This record gives sequence, structure tokens and C-alpha cells, in this order.
Amino acid sequence: MKDASPQTIYLSDYTPPAYLVEDVHLTFRLAPTATRVIARINFRPNPEAKSRAFFLHGEGLKLIWATVDGQIVQPGIDEDGLTAEVPDAPFTWEAEVEIDPAGNTRLEGLYLSNGMYCTQCEAEGFRRITYYPDRPDVMAPFTVRIEGEEPVLLSNGNPTDHGPGWAEWTDPWPKPSYLFALVAGDLVAREDSFTTRNEREVALKLWVRPGDEHKTEWAMESLKASMKWDEEVYGREYDLDIFQIVAVSDFNMGAMENKGLNIFNTSAVLASPDTSTDANFARIEGIVAHEYFHNWTGNRITCRDWFQLSLKEGLTVFRDQSFSADLRSAAVQRIEDVMALRGRQFREDNGPLAHQVQPDSFVEINNFYTATIYEKGAEVIRMLHTLVGPDDYRKALDLYFDRHDGEAATIDDWLNVFEDATGRDLGQFKRWYKQAGTPRLSVEEQWEDGTYTLTFTQDTPPTPGQDEKAPLVIPIVTGLLGPNGDEVVPSQVLEMTEKTQSFTFAGLGAKPVPSILRGFSAPVILTREASPEERAFLLANDTDPFNRWEAGRMLAKEVLTAMVTGKEPPLDAYLGALATMLRDDSLEPAFRALALHLPGEDDMAQTLHDAGITPDPARIHDARETLLQEVAEHLQDSLPRLSAEMVIEAPFAPDAEQAGKRALALALLRLTTRLDGGKAAAKVYAEADNMTLSLGALGCLLDAEAGEAALADFEARWAGDALVMDKWFMMQVSHAAPEKAADVAARLAEHPAFNMKNPNRFRSVFGALAMHPAGFHHASGAGYALMADWIIRLDPLNPQIAARMSGAFETIGRYDADRQGMMREALERIAASEGLSRDTGEMVGRILR
Ligand code: PHE
Ligand code: ZN
Repeated sequence: MKDASPQTIYLSDYTPPAYLVEDVHLTFRLAPTATRVIARINFRPNPEAKSRAFFLHGEGLKLIWATVDGQIVQPGIDEDGLTAEVPDAPFTWEAEVEIDPAGNTRLEGLYLSNGMYCTQCEAEGFRRITYYPDRPDVMAPFTVRIEGEEPVLLSNGNPTDHGPGWAEWTDPWPKPSYLFALVAGDLVAREDSFTTRNEREVALKLWVRPGDEHKTEWAMESLKASMKWDEEVYGREYDLDIFQIVAVSDFNMGAMENKGLNIFNTSAVLASPDTSTDANFARIEGIVAHEYFHNWTGNRITCRDWFQLSLKEGLTVFRDQSFSADLRSAAVQRIEDVMALRGRQFREDNGPLAHQVQPDSFVEINNFYTATIYEKGAEVIRMLHTLVGPDDYRKALDLYFDRHDGEAATIDDWLNVFEDATGRDLGQFKRWYKQAGTPRLSVEEQWEDGTYTLTFTQDTPPTPGQDEKAPLVIPIVTGLLGPNGDEVVPSQVLEMTEKTQSFTFAGLGAKPVPSILRGFSAPVILTREASPEERAFLLANDTDPFNRWEAGRMLAKEVLTAMVTGKEPPLDAYLGALATMLRDDSLEPAFRALALHLPGEDDMAQTLHDAGITPDPARIHDARETLLQEVAEHLQDSLPRLSAEMVIEAPFAPDAEQAGKRALALALLRLTTRLDGGKAAAKVYAEADNMTLSLGALGCLLDAEAGEAALADFEARWAGDALVMDKWFMMQVSHAAPEKAADVAARLAEHPAFNMKNPNRFRSVFGALAMHPAGFHHASGAGYALMADWIIRLDPLNPQIAARMSGAFETIGRYDADRQGMMREALERIAASEGLSRDTGEMVGRILR
């Protein structure tokens, strides 16, 4: 049923554009508060259009003049754009507009960041630069002339001409306006080059502000590795003479794949051992790859409309995850990806913001850059990969690139390619795109006369606007282990299509232990009753590393659940299995570190809610603290030896092997801190020669409430480095005691280095508060009230970030009446604030509904 709101946009309303664009010529005369943009656009009627109405998007533009075929026209203008009389034949549109980059705090369109001009056009920012059909199915080659005093003037494509105070760039590849980019400023480049498999030289430039040159090596190496990987694994070669990346300190998201000119949040590109953690290095490698991979999956083949967003994002996330799995440890990568999926996407999918991978409607597209579009979208493609196998997957991708290169495609096009390449019917599979919510998969076993039967039942709970759910195709990768731990039935894909379905395994000598959903082969919540002993057995014996980790995870959750609900926890089974696992040298340290990591508080809250128990964040926090203390005491004797084994003698390298050792060393240090009050951590902090250990040790000291000196030292040392100071802000909130978290955040927001206009800084305080469940959900309600205050303050400046931050309240449905009441009050206060943006209005409205 359609919403009454006039602003809602529906997939079913799609119509082709009335006019197509032949080419675009833009001239920019840069000035901080009054930049002029002169556009010359050649249009032609679209033979496939149903109407000839000429409409150009435009927001916040001051029109100076406009012509059609050289004749001055007076268009009809409103807040969304303009209309004009134009011929039913090809014509030239010209217009000059004035915009104010310095006053642009939304960070959409053209803005100034730290004295440098930059743009952000996805999804609908180009309409804040000039009047244009700002929709992704209008693709055109662009020529851009930039006039300005800045020493470096950049745009998409290849440099074609320049002189004193100006430069011209030409992008020969037709692109939608959301991929447009311009950068101008005082910048320096790290330069390198890449030779493609067809021996073409590509110049690589990574632009940063003077002083940041020493933080560019890692991203450049990541870029070259990505270019090589895309050639080897997907057969995709780069297609311009130059590829550039620019680091920008004020940026709403991680990074943006503008054609030939990627723009990155400094946090997603700049790294050095003394300022960046191993997690930062890994994230940068992944994001550099992600944006580079978009050149084919996103740019050469783009999206017809924003309902197809997952066509490029789900696929590109799947590609960057595969890349990281190839470069690092595949097992560890998969575990981390699943943790992120459960932490963000399952949370979203099980609350009021649940939506389809291909939504049917939206109010503000910026609100749909979500974990569902990205991470669940990637899981859906991973399932396709599992179902058709690697060879057919590659065949389908080749066909996809062949068939749709240069086009704005749809998710249906994508599925058709798979059907045509493999002969499979994907009608039922398509439900993964159209059905929101996380499927629950339960399983029962039967053992009789050497035959073992697994009976699965699937059930997807209702989500907003979708009460009825149909059965999905679920690839359940399963193997069976014998009583001695040998694998008696190797991994196979059980293809479930019915609501309830059985699979049998005959000719077995003894009742096996099943290892189900290996590698997390589908984004579902698997529930299976098992004894603590069986989970411990899997943690010790499973040949699938993901399920090995998962067994320990399940056991930990059972312990915590029992502790919270006042039952007897299976503590011995858990601690025994953990100790055995930890001492197993055949397991890589990164894996052991992950297995040592207890389920987070938010994860536990969701788990309890799923089990019909109203979560109490304070009790969850306390149970986790108690269990950590138990673990520390149980492992006490092994800690010194294991810690010594994790010491690295070699010079620092941000590779996966060293990172794994440091991760385990820090996991052990956290336990040690519980026994020595921070003595060991103080030593690690004092001697650390890299940010991973410094920050890890600082966290331990804060937990032990012995962090004051280290905090002061850290601030004095890093006051000049914004990215490191973000960590300083964040650590204080995330390690605050629950009853103090809101106070700490409020106090930090008064710090002279706090700047709400910088998204990284805002997130480092308020994002950290949102991710501190016992603090945010403290019974006083202080966390909710503070969050609402700051969302209200931020909204007029940066609606996109304000809207995103309001997702902190999406778990409202899990909690008790008191908390729900206070959350509702906070949300209603936001909803009632004067002039609230469409972005935040939509989010708050959906949560309150
Ligand atoms: N398209 C970007 C990416 O996924 C994300 C992004 C969206 C950045 C919107 C800015 C604005 O790589
Ligand atoms: Zn992307």
C-alpha cells in the first residue's frame, strides 16, 4: 500500500528519461562563497521516453542565465529544479549558476574542506552544482575546465590541457552525474604506476595535504594489488591513462568511486605504523579495493535507478571481501565479515528499519546506504556463487560485463545473466532481494540404522510492511564428523527450497556430529539445540574454521545467557574448550584472538530478545565482566607464556601475520589487566612503537581505571593529528563505565578540539556512545537525551550524519517499557524539532511507527 506522503518515491513509478545527454562541458570559476558553474549540455530526445517534459534537477542554485540553442530562456524554477520549453529535437542547453562551497556544511555537492575544494555527488549531490537530469540512467562524457588559484586542479578522466590558473579534464567514458568529481587545493601527490596486462601504463596519484605524504604508502600498495587482482580474478583491466585518489578530512562516508578520481575520507586512506592500528590498515586495504573495483561494477556498468543500489554495492562488497580473503587469512576474514554482518545488518533487519535488498520505496535515498544494501547484498551474491559454483559464477560475470558494459542496469538484468549463463531458474532466489528480515533456520536430527537425517525448517519473521514471507532458497553447506573427530561426510551444499525439508546421509558407522552452515553459507539465524560437550567437540575438531569459531561463540552465548537469567552456566565446558583452543599452536593467532573475544553486549541483547527475554543492558554488561574475570583466572598460568610467544622481534609490518600476533597479544593483555590492575599494560603502553599496541594498552588502562596519565600523554603527543585524536575521543567514551558514558561524551563535546562539522570527530564521540550499549541504554536515560540533543543540533548542518546517528535508536523494540518510553520521548523530541531534514525525519518516523 502506498504511503500518503507526497515525497515517497516508488520503484514501480520508474519511467525512462525524456531527454538523453550527448555530452557535457562544465566550466568552474572557483571562489569560496561564490563559485560560478557554466554548463553546456547537448540533449537529444529519448526515443524510449513516454513524455517530452523537460525537467532538470537543481537544489540551492542561483541561476544567473540560461539559454536553449543560444536563445535566452526564463525557466520555471522551484525547490527541486526547473522546467523549460525545448524543441522535440536535439538542442544545446547552457546555464550559469552560482553556488557557495564555503557555506556548504552538508558535504554534498561542492564544498570546502580544510581550505580545499571537493565534491560529493552520490546519490543526488550533482544537482547542487548545476541544473542537470541528476539520475543514474542518464550517462554522458564530460569535459571540465577548472579556473582557480589553487595549485592543483583535478577532475575525472584524463588531463587534456592546462595553463596558468586553469586545467581541463576529459572523461571519455559515459557516466552518470553521481560519479562526477572535482578537487582543487594545495595538494601533494605520491606517484606510482601500474602496467596493465595489455601493457598499458597507468599513472597512479594519491593526493594529500602537505605533511601527510608519509601516510600514503599503504594505500598505494593496496591500489596496485587491487588492480592486479581484478585482472587475475575477474579479467577486468583499468581503462584510463590515470587513476587518482584524494584524501579529504571532512567526508560523510568512507570513500567514493568517482570515475578515475576517487575521493576518500582521510580515515579510509591515510596510514602509518605510528598513527594507525592494524584494523585501520586492513580497512584501508579493503576500501581502496572496494572503490577501485567499482570502476567496473558501478561505473562501467551502473544502476538504472537507486532501487538498484545493491547491484553495484552488494557486488562490490562481495568483491572486496574476496580480495581481502585472498590477500589475508580467508578464515579470519570470513569470521570478521560475519561479525560485522550480524552486528549491523541483523540488527537493522530485526528492527523498525528493516528493508529489502531491493526496496520498493524510499523518501531520502541517503538513508538507504545501509548494511542491508551493502552487506546483505554481498551475502546474496555469495550464495549465488555457492549455488552455481566458481566456474559458472565466472561465466555469468563475463556475460554480465559483455552484455551490460556502458549501461545503467537493474537487479533483474543481473539475475537474467545468471539464468542465461547457467540455465538455472532464479525465480525463487529473487526473494532474497525482495523479502526483508533475517530467516530463522532450525534443524532436527534423526539417527536410525546407519542413516542420519537432518530436517530443516525456515521461517522469516514479519518486517514493517511485509507480514507474509515465502520460503527462500538457502544453500546450507554441511559436513559430518565422526565420534573421533574425523570428517566422515565432507562439505556439501544442501539446497533448501521448501519451508521444511529433510536431507539424509546413509551408510554411516556411528551417529555423526553435524557441522551445519559452514563458512556461514547463508545470512540466517541458525538455531540448533546442542549440548555444551558437543559445542566443545566442534570447537576442538571441526575442519571448517568458521564453524569452529562459531561453536565457541555459541557456547559463550549460552554461558552469558545463563548468567543473565540466573541459571547455572556451562562454565567448565566453556573454559576447558577455550584453554585447549588457545594452546593449539596449529591455529593462527588471529583466529585464536577472535575465539577469545566474547560476544559483544549488543549481540547478547539481540540474542536474549530472540529467545524471548527482555535484555537488561546493565546485567549483560555485568555478566560479561564476570565471565571475562573467570576466563582471566582460568587462563592465569598460561598468560605469561602465551604473551611471550606473541612478541614480535621483526620490524613492524602491517601484514596479516603480524597483525594476528598483535591481536592475540592484546586479547591476552586485556585478561592480564584483570589480574594485575594494569601493570603489564602500562609497560606495553610505554614501550609500544606502533599505534596498535599503544591504543590497545590504553584501552586496558582505561578499563582498569588507571588511564589518566596515558590519556594525557596521548593527547600531548597527538594533538596535531586529527585521525589519532579521533581515537583519543573515541576511546574515552567506549571505555567509560556505563553510568559515566553519557557524561564523558557530553564533556568531550565541550573540548576545544571537538568539531561537530567534522563527521569523523562527531562519530568518534557520539558513534562511540551509540556503540556502548550499557552506557547508551543506562537506566538514567542520560544517553538517550544526550544523543537526541546532538542529533537536533547537527541536523541543520549535516542532515545525512544526523539521520545516520538516529539509527542508534533502532533497537527500541527490544527493551523494557521504561527504556522504550525514554527512547520514544527522545525520538519525539527530534521529530518535533523545527525545520527537521527529510533525512532525519524519515529515519525517526520509521523508528517511531
Ligand atoms: N558509493 C560509495 C561506496 O560504497 C559510498 C558513498 C555513498 C559515498 C554516498 C558517498 C556518498 O563506495
Ligand atoms: Zn561502494
